[in-house]
Amino acid sequence: MALLLLTKRGVTMDLLVKGEGRIEWAARRMPVLSAIRHRFAEERPLEGIRLGACLHVTTETANLMLALKDGGAQVALCASNPLSTQDDVALALRESFSIEVHAQRGVDNNTYYRHVRAVASTKPHVTMDDGADLVAALHGETSQWSSEVMAGTEETTTGVNRLRAMAEDGALRYPIIAVNDALTKHMFDNRYGTGQSTIDGILRATNILLAGRVFVVAGYGWCGKGLASRARGMGARVMVVEADPLRALEAAMDGYQVGSMEEAASVGDVFVTVTGNRGVIDTRHFGLMKDGAILANSGHFDVEIDVEALAGVARRSPGVREGVSEYEMPDGRRLYVLGDGRLINLAAAEGHPAEVMDMSFANQALAVEWLVKERPALENRVYGVPLEIDREVARLKMLAMGMRVEELTESQREYMGSWKMGT
Ligand code: NAI
Repeated sequence: MALLLLTKRGVTMDLLVKGEGRIEWAARRMPVLSAIRHRFAEERPLEGIRLGACLHVTTETANLMLALKDGGAQVALCASNPLSTQDDVALALRESFSIEVHAQRGVDNNTYYRHVRAVASTKPHVTMDDGADLVAALHGETSQWSSEVMAGTEETTTGVNRLRAMAEDGALRYPIIAVNDALTKHMFDNRYGTGQSTIDGILRATNILLAGRVFVVAGYGWCGKGLASRARGMGARVMVVEADPLRALEAAMDGYQVGSMEEAASVGDVFVTVTGNRGVIDTRHFGLMKDGAILANSGHFDVEIDVEALAGVARRSPGVREGVSEYEMPDGRRLYVLGDGRLINLAAAEGHPAEVMDMSFANQALAVEWLVKERPALENRVYGVPLEIDREVARLKMLAMGMRVEELTESQREYMGSWKMGT
């Protein structure tokens, strides 16, 4: 018994040390957030604010929580997906940094929502979401704890879509800043972050060679563009499936083969959905797919591949590799679903690299500071990130990367602002 306890403590200590080390590793790659954290520690702009956060519990999120705490906020954190929590980070945040965390990797849906409710029960003044689950809870079954919420922020496209729908229905009860709408967020995080980390997740789960494979990307939004370009960079033959004609055209002129999912289904080796929509790959497509096809999702919710429908027609054997489920179709073809159809970059890898989360989370921290100051003037709707915050994040990032931005001369400024000067 004593030996068992010792071993358990040893494992816990190992996990704690690992979490601390990885949080520090990320911190060193997040210079913009670090600069904000230092300023926050001096100015304490969030003094007295209770902040409830529902975000992927990763090393980068840990650094955001620490910045907010140093700014004076009392922070409670839960996960924004049952498979994205890094347990070493959750432990280190609790034990070494005294932050309230309700998250554990791989919990079932009931526990996941119990964790969301636990954060809601801290009666936050400000909410911070990635997918709008906390906002939804505070507008629904936990609305008894919502009386003191004054504002919130939202990190991702799907969350912003949900919140805009709530605002349109007149259901939104407090103002939200759509951090995803900042240029220094979606142009970099969604494109380069999701692009790289989605490939990372697929490779960690499968160890396949991408060169020469037909790699189907569903959705040519910010995430899809990044993913398609990274897959092409590794030698895959990329095909894009897109519902919006403008974006489909863009994909075609970017040099990709473009077609419907029905066309892609029979030729693809690897399929990745990143649309924010449901049923993108479903029973219309499973029957057409090649033996050995690999299916992954990087969109926010696990609704893009209809895994339930697949399970209805095929025999599932989990555990073929960690994070890979094999589905044997009645005719003997085998399809492989990665990470149960949950966002693969977090289910099988570590999410976005810290360098890019530096900008997203700098926006989060500055947006909270702005909301706390501006709240009295705001209506219950979804706001973009103020342009001055976006520009400041870009300026600080360039500075941190040691690159200079060209200064316009007085005459250039005058020329750009004038309509009188022609040929
Ligand atoms: P976006 O709105 O820029 O692009 C989505 C694209 O998918 C649109 O062009 C839309 O026309 C297309 N689309 C919708 N339904 C489709 C269908 N059935 N077939 C083909 N195309 C379809 O959105 P963004 O920013 O690229 O985000 C996509 C998803 O990824 C969202 O759920 C977002 O929350 C999530 N996301 C995930 C991240 C991750 O770490 N895995 C990071 C950032 C965003």
